[in-house]
Amino acid sequence: MEIREAVRQRRSIRKYKDTEIPEQVLKEVLEDALWAPSGVNRQNWFIYAVRGEKKDELLKAVAGSGKYLKPRLETLYKKEVVNLTMSFFTNLGGAPVILLVYIPKNIVEIHPAMSNRERYLAEHERFVNLLSASALIQNILLLAKSRGLGTCWMTAPKYNEDQINEIMGITDKELVAVIPIGYPDQNPPAPPRKGEKIRFIGFNQPV
Ligand SMILES: Cc1cc2nc3c(=O)[nH]c(=O)nc-3n(C[C@H](O)[C@H](O)[C@H](O)COP(=O)(O)O)c2cc1C
Repeated sequence: MEIREAVRQRRSIRKYKDTEIPEQVLKEVLEDALWAPSGVNRQNWFIYAVRGEKKDELLKAVAGSGKYLKPRLETLYKKEVVNLTMSFFTNLGGAPVILLVYIPKNIVEIHPAMSNRERYLAEHERFVNLLSASALIQNILLLAKSRGLGTCWMTAPKYNEDQINEIMGITDKELVAVIPIGYPDQNPPAPPRKGEKIRFIGFNQPV
């Protein structure tokens, strides 16, 4: 699959087939994804692939996080969309595997009076780790797409991060994303992309 195709045709999948992912395929997707760039090549990220009983425990924690997102969704979307999203939270669309992406825990104090440099000095570690983990996550999403797998990058479960970390027995890391992964059982339309996001400066011709 062409990179352009994978980028443009990847969709957030919220309904999955009841089909297991061959372990080799999952392993290859995750190992290939690790070739993402990372700040000073620290590769400061961790991926957990979870299925079975632990996944069922995680689902309960994720389901409980939906209520924190609901009020925001209600200001943005119609009732049907809100209800669909909420029902996705109950079982993550039946995905056979849940991926969790973590970075090392690094919580620092920042305040509005700080200059940009002071702020960056203070939160540099977390900032760079978050961006690096995001590159890793996008790799997972695109590689999964190229193998016929669907995914949904999720941050709303962070509302219940304490519960998720307890289930996972994790104390020294910060949760970046929860990603259900499996074979898609839906083909959702592409939400339109907004224009006017790119400015060409110093180009001779209007592009
Ligand atoms: C940082 C980030 C957080 C997201 N969190 C959630 C989430 O918590 N729940 C969810 O259903 N989708 C979540 N999404 C998916 C977006 O809703 C989705 O990417 C967007 O609507 C565009 O649709 P597409 O991915 O099909 O192109 C998230 C996406 C990103 C990049």
